[in-house]
Amino acid sequence: MLELEQISKKYKDKLALDQVTLSLENGIYGLLGPNGAGKSTLMNIITGNLKPTAGQVKWDGKEIRSLGADFRSIIGYAPQQQGLYDTFTGRRFLSYMATLKGISKKEMAEEIKRVLSFVNMEEAADRMIGTYSGGMKQRILIAQAILGDPKLIVLDEPTAGLDPKERVRIRERIREFSGDKIILVSPHVVSDIEPIAKEIILIKSGNIMDRDTVEHLCQKYGEAKDLEEVYMEIFGGEEDHASTDIL
Ligand SMILES: Nc1ncnc2c1ncn2[C@@H]1O[C@H](COP(=O)(O)OP(=O)(O)OP(=O)(O)O)[C@@H](O)[C@H]1O
Ligand SMILES: [Mg+2]
Repeated sequence: MLELEQISKKYKDKLALDQVTLSLENGIYGLLGPNGAGKSTLMNIITGNLKPTAGQVKWDGKEIRSLGADFRSIIGYAPQQQGLYDTFTGRRFLSYMATLKGISKKEMAEEIKRVLSFVNMEEAADRMIGTYSGGMKQRILIAQAILGDPKLIVLDEPTAGLDPKERVRIRERIREFSGDKIILVSPHVVSDIEPIAKEIILIKSGNIMDRDTVEHLCQKYGEAKDLEEVYMEIFGGEEDHASTDIL
């Protein structure tokens, strides 16, 4: 179980997260909100890549920073920005990431094969990442996030740049492993998450506005017929000009 307790994050005088409290159990969650709402900030804090200004993140009751290297093998994270590993082949990049995660030499080849197949990238595995299309780079990024079969998978706009066929394929593969994991996805488009999410978490200006099933959200917000309508009802399609309140 993942628990966020009163998490705040301030960048200089910009309050990006405002006392976010949230607990997640196994299942797929969609994190939805306008540009600048705080989604990536929240994901970076959950994955231990960014230190909150205040508050704690706990995994099974323990503060994640106290777990140290153990936490590395629990999480998989695909950040929104693509890394700069252009001179690595896909396979070399994956073995590098697998080493960082503490996956043993013995298991490595098999594990890399598994994740390459997950993202349908077996054939391009021995090409340099620099020669990949945007969608292929994105898929290698997803592949590294699931290395070692982590219990907590955080995907920040994983399907940005993917063609519709690959988007649907990745969505359906994600659906398959929802049972024994927490999967938090900030979808590129609402339809990437709507059919597979246990719950949707709505975030605006660094505040969690609501969390609920798609069905309940549709009922709550103006009898919306789908999640897209819920989104428009709440956010109106505007960019989020979050407050600059001092903490
Ligand atoms: N390193 C930083 N320094 C200063 N401000 C930042 C920094 N990173 C993010 N912010 C600000 O914090 C707020 C939240 O940003 P964040 O990237 O978390 O939003 P987001 O919901 O992921 O947006 P998007 O949908 O565009 O990816 C924004 O107002 C952003 O400008
Ligand atoms: Mg973001």
